[in-house]
Amino acid sequence: MYVCLCRGITESDVREAGRAGFVMPCQLRSKFGLKQNGNCGRCAKNIHELVALAAQGASTSTVER
Ligand code: FES
Repeated sequence: MYVCLCRGITESDVREAGRAGFVMPCQLRSKFGLKQNGNCGRCAKNIHELVALAAQGASTSTVER
């Protein structure tokens, strides 16, 4: 499911970012360019949802054995 239509970012993209260590709001805004010109910024206003998805990804990154 898309979490940002302007940038074409999906939930799995955000989880993957979380696995790579991008879990803070400022990190996610920067990584995905959420407040660049031409983007509506709606998803940046709901950044807590992206942070939650990234945290899910980060928590699954330590499952490897
Ligand atoms: S929906 Fe993400 S910038 Fe518009």
